[in-house]
Amino acid sequence: MAGQIPQRFIDDLLARTDVVDIVSERVKLKKAGRNHSGLCPFHQEKSPSFTVSADKQFYHCFGCGAHGNALRFLMEYDRLAFPEAVEQLAGRLGLEVPREGDDDPRQQVRERKRKEGVNLLELAASFFRERMKMPEGESARAYLEQRGLSAEVVRDFGIGFAPAQWEAMRHHLGGHGISEAVQIEYGLLVHREDSGRMYDRFRDRVMFPIRDMRGRTVAFGGRVLGDAKPKYLNSPETPVFHKGRELYGLYEARQANSRLERVVIVEGYMDVVALAQFGIRNAVATLGTATTEDHLSRLFRVVDEVVFCFDGDRAGRQAADRALRTALPMMIDGRQARFLFLPEGEDPDTLVRREGADAFEDRVTCASPLSEFLFDQAAQGRDLGQIEERERYASQVLEAIGQLPEGMLKSLLLTELSRRTGVDQSSFESMMMRHAGAAQEAPMETAAPVPPGEAGPVPSEAVGQAQGGSLGLMARALQLLVHEPGLAERLPDNDDWCDQEQSDAQLCRQVVRLLKAGGYRSPQVLLAHFHGTPEGERLAELARREPLVPKGVRGAELDNWVAYFQRHRRQRSPQEEYDALLARSRTGETLSQQERKRLSELLMELKG
Ligand code: CTP
Ligand code: MN
Repeated sequence: MAGQIPQRFIDDLLARTDVVDIVSERVKLKKAGRNHSGLCPFHQEKSPSFTVSADKQFYHCFGCGAHGNALRFLMEYDRLAFPEAVEQLAGRLGLEVPREGDDDPRQQVRERKRKEGVNLLELAASFFRERMKMPEGESARAYLEQRGLSAEVVRDFGIGFAPAQWEAMRHHLGGHGISEAVQIEYGLLVHREDSGRMYDRFRDRVMFPIRDMRGRTVAFGGRVLGDAKPKYLNSPETPVFHKGRELYGLYEARQANSRLERVVIVEGYMDVVALAQFGIRNAVATLGTATTEDHLSRLFRVVDEVVFCFDGDRAGRQAADRALRTALPMMIDGRQARFLFLPEGEDPDTLVRREGADAFEDRVTCASPLSEFLFDQAAQGRDLGQIEERERYASQVLEAIGQLPEGMLKSLLLTELSRRTGVDQSSFESMMMRHAGAAQEAPMETAAPVPPGEAGPVPSEAVGQAQGGSLGLMARALQLLVHEPGLAERLPDNDDWCDQEQSDAQLCRQVVRLLKAGGYRSPQVLLAHFHGTPEGERLAELARREPLVPKGVRGAELDNWVAYFQRHRRQRSPQEEYDALLARSRTGETLSQQERKRLSELLMELKG
């Protein structure tokens, strides 16, 4: 376990970083006197109220109140967790992030070894690149050109060439004082136990460096220039390389996109590189293995959406089935996985060349969502006219749904299953409960803990019987507003919909008013407004929990809920309504024009 990052390192990092650089890499700034200013990236505005001060090393927005230092900015803007933001800043300065406990000698040895390995692999990568430029690299250059790769893409991916000799690398690294033992340990040199011979692992191959999230070369994949076998040769597992964890192209994809939202998972190096050649710079490849949980959790830390890409044949279907199983437990609401099947005999490389980038992008756009794929897969080869087949179909789907974490998606799929089979949803729920009870629930790292006993009445007609999570509906509306304050814009002017008898309704109304009054567009600022009050604590609690509604549809959901609240407003007597309005105006709240009118109407009615 890595320890905490020492505070002195963070201080040092901030001292050596200029917040103006960090911000101006992401936001267009103009120099204005001693400060820089621009349009605030945290709320919508037409004239700039966002300033960055080089003297104070702070940014501040006079419009929405967003403020902080370089680290805070990275956390907010790039949506990084604190340690990731620190990594990012450290990376810019070429520093390693130390952890408490690094003084532990064992840890130190490990760290030294890791550095040694990384240096060695960087050295090897530049060796391969150099060799490609030399006359002996002609065959590799011709090969890459024949595969349609430009010098630019070759450079972006750092592609090189391993010469045909048996000891070129060994001599090169030896000349840099790197022992054979280390070369063997990092997979560059092969030692045959039987004959005692030692030789370069990679010979006469096009070399693809595999980089980690921070761009450090951790391994290589090499492709033969012709049809020899094996076609691809990868580095073995080493202290810095674990096949089931790294993704080829992820670093490059993050470099090419300031905001990476979706990643396409393909099979091969060439697929990633060919797609990049055509301007599709968000593909990554697993390294000759199926997609693992480690891969996905790494990806979901940087994007909300992954698209799996498979061959259209039987093997492709099987691989997709495996990917589905791996993905299911990780599908907390807000994440998306989709499945793309290519025409038989094609891979992304051949397809993008044949059809072009737009057609390929269209295929990605139309890829089946996980929900659809799950039903399709279970229906494969079944005659759903038969009751027994339908039973197996339902069981298979139910089993898959059982793998999902609690949330909106799970509820919606249950509803859909019930619609498709005609079996009552509550029977599915109880079947699933029994299953879950039997198959001892594994604790899940990804799902947010849900406190018990908070369940509120959920209107089935309003949210498709979604029982996910256990917040009351008003709390969930409030939660959406905290997470996306901009949603307030679509709420009706009249806020009588949150005039309910629920504990969160009062707070919800306050929040809506505040948001509607303008200004606040970032959750942090909203929370800051209530800081130190019980309301602030409640809001912070809601903010910490991930909303169960996926990002794209939050507005629509909120509309549904508001409509529901409006329909189900408690009927009040005129006296009660009058008292409530009066109480509010007495606490200093400004009533809307409509409400004032209503108040005088009620007054007339009660007096008359
Ligand atoms: N692979 C591997 N070892 C092999 C063959 C394949 O590790 N002997 C992995 C590589 O990551 C490769 C991927 O599986 O990129 C897909 O293999 P394949 O479909 O055979 O190759 P392509 O990517 O189509 O390669 P190319 O287009 O260069 O023939
Ligand atoms: Mn191919």
